[in-house]
Amino acid sequence: SEKAALEDLLFSYKGILYPAALCNLETFRVLDSFEARSDDMILAGYAKNGTNWLHQVLNDLEITAAKYTKEEINERMNITNELFVFLCPEFGDPEKFKRMKELPFRRIIVTHLFPQVLPKSIFKSKAKILLLVRNPKDTAVSYFHFHNNMPTLPSFSSWDEYFAAFMHGKICRGSYFDYLVEWNKHVDDENVMVITYEELKENQIIGLKKIADFFGFSLNEEEIQTVAEKSSFEAMKENSFKTHGTFGKILFRKGIVGDWKDHFYEAQSKEMDRKFEECLEETKLGEKMKY
Ligand code: A3P
Repeated sequence: SEKAALEDLLFSYKGILYPAALCNLETFRVLDSFEARSDDMILAGYAKNGTNWLHQVLNDLEITAAKYTKEEINERMNITNELFVFLCPEFGDPEKFKRMKELPFRRIIVTHLFPQVLPKSIFKSKAKILLLVRNPKDTAVSYFHFHNNMPTLPSFSSWDEYFAAFMHGKICRGSYFDYLVEWNKHVDDENVMVITYEELKENQIIGLKKIADFFGFSLNEEEIQTVAEKSSFEAMKENSFKTHGTFGKILFRKGIVGDWKDHFYEAQSKEMDRKFEECLEETKLGEKMKY
């Protein structure tokens, strides 16, 4: 069936677009009342940077380090599935926040939000923030397919039309470039660590060890290896109906580095390189993300 127009599907708040079916002014107001804890694990990443992947990684690291019993793992899974700890405006539900307050374990909070829109308590609490970034070209491609497959998002009739929208932030969740510029202001914060999708794909074991160290988990080689196997693209895709329902079919697409080469024209690639330079030249984040 025909999808509705962009303006019907997206809601603009402080210059950034969000899915209108899921959020409004009230959810943004409520969002600010969220109370972070100092031991929260915050996973921040723009849409399509691999947030679902890292969410599973953090969850598995936590479960393994805490040495939960099977029953405790199941109980924890039921609660987290129900409360769905994604901290985005569409989940600005006061009831949910109240229940999250009482959770009897270390919380994992995933968010696509720009830092200036995050609840103030997150920075005040000094909770650790893992910032997940991805080459903008691959993020753009992944998000193109996502826009066109998700019924709640506007679709684009061509790659070119989408590319222009992505470059100007006229897509759900705003400009990825602005997002990077804003987060770059926090890369030197003592509670922030940056990880790239590419470095994790290149060597997941080293990546997982870095993440485990950052959040203070001590796991042995074998445990790290098990977490890595469980969170490989293939394993997650295979298990996706159980973890994500039918949404899993849309989410686990290719899981590779460099798919942009099959989508970008030469001129588009150059345009994005220029934009990236303009936004992040001589910054730590820009250096880390060099692709
Ligand atoms: P592609 O569309 O390029 O395949 P998010 O979870 O933030 O929405 O990101 C989705 C992207 O992460 C998709 O990229 C998806 O395939 C990829 N992804 C999901 N799980 C992954 C995994 N275990 N390893 C590598 N990539 C993964």
